[in-house]
Order: sequence, then C-alpha cells, then structure tokens
Amino acid sequence: MPGNQEIELTETSFLISRTDLNGAITYVNEELCYFSGFERTDLIGSNHNILRHPDMPSIIFAQMWKSIKSGDKWHGYIKNKTKSGDFYWVDAEVSPHIKDGERVGYKSVRKMVPPELKILLDREYEKLRKDEDGRFNTWTVKNENYEAFDAISKELDISKNDLFVKMLALAKKMLKKR
Ligand SMILES: Cc1cc2nc3c(=O)[nH]c(=O)nc-3n(C[C@H](O)[C@H](O)[C@H](O)COP(=O)(O)O)c2cc1C
Repeated sequence: MPGNQEIELTETSFLISRTDLNGAITYVNEELCYFSGFERTDLIGSNHNILRHPDMPSIIFAQMWKSIKSGDKWHGYIKNKTKSGDFYWVDAEVSPHIKDGERVGYKSVRKMVPPELKILLDREYEKLRKDEDGRFNTWTVKNENYEAFDAISKELDISKNDLFVKMLALAKKMLKKR
C-alpha cells in the first residue's frame, strides 16, 4: 500500500532541528529533510507538529513541553509522519537552546530506535491514545497551564516519566545485547 510504510533510520542518522521560543523551526539539517520528505523551506517557520503522526498520544508531547519549558532535557520516542504519509521512529532528545546564558529556543537531536522497541512503543502508545480518548491536547501545557495535564497524568496512571524510565531501561538492555 503506498503511504504508511516505515522508513528506517540507520545507526549513523542524526536528524537535527532548532526552534525559537515559540516553537517555530529556525534550523533543520539535511538528514531531517531527507527522512521527513519535506523541503527545508516547508520546515523553516513551521511548528514541529508538521511532522506529527496521528498514532502519537498527545500526553507524550505534553510531557515534552512541561520538561523543556521548565528548563530540563526531555528524552523520548516519537513516531513521525513523512510528507507522503509514511512513518519513521526516532529516539529524540529535546532541550532548551541556551546562548550566552539565555534561553533562545529549543533544539532536538533524533536517532534510530531499535526495532524490538518499536513493537513495544506501538502497543504502549495505542493504550495511551485510547485512554486519553481525544480529551487532551498539548496547547495548555505549552502555555504553562499544567492543571489538565497533571489531572490526566494521574488518571492515566503515568507519572511524569514512568513510561520513559521503563522504555529507557529496556532500550539500554537491548542495545547491550547487540
Ligand atoms: C525542538 C523540538 C522538536 C520537536 N520535534 C518533534 C518531532 O520530531 N515530532 C513531533 O511530532 N513533534 C515534535 N515536537 C513537538 C511539536 O512542537 C508538537 O508539540 C507536537 O507535534 C504535538 O502537536 P500539537 O502541539 O499541535 O498538539 C518538537 C518540539 C520541539 C520544541
């Protein structure tokens, strides 16, 4: 079926982007253009949700925004959609971009995800998506209103980083086995 095919990153793939403080993309490297299928001109000035895949639960991005808004680094796994409707998994690190001691925006580096982990992620994300049932979006978190996020995190029984601690431990174990 055309579209909805997986595009796989390799061990040497690094997909990089930066944004301003509002989340508008200011820089992308060649590899992000290559894997996403977007031209640099499509991406610069856009929000990263241009890359968003509908399989992604909103709560994951809410976790990301809460971390980076409070000045922390966020590490997690994202399924992204290409311009033509295919998808690629990334192991993403997103963090504040600091210049001369001042936050000027956000930056991200994306690497490949081990295939075994993708199966688990698909399953976990499907559960989260069903549980959040479209009742939640990242908008409030981006605006630093954490009330709805905290309530739903409690309800879905995932404390801030539980899922990622679990995923990370598993990912490390898998990588060690290789
Ligand atoms: C530096 C940075 C990198 C991001 N990278 C991605 C990404 O690769 N894929 C994605 O779907 N969202 C990414 N996001 C989050 C999006 O901005 C957005 O919050 C997310 O796609 C959910 O869409 P929504 O906010 O419209 O609900 C990134 C955000 C920042 C600040």
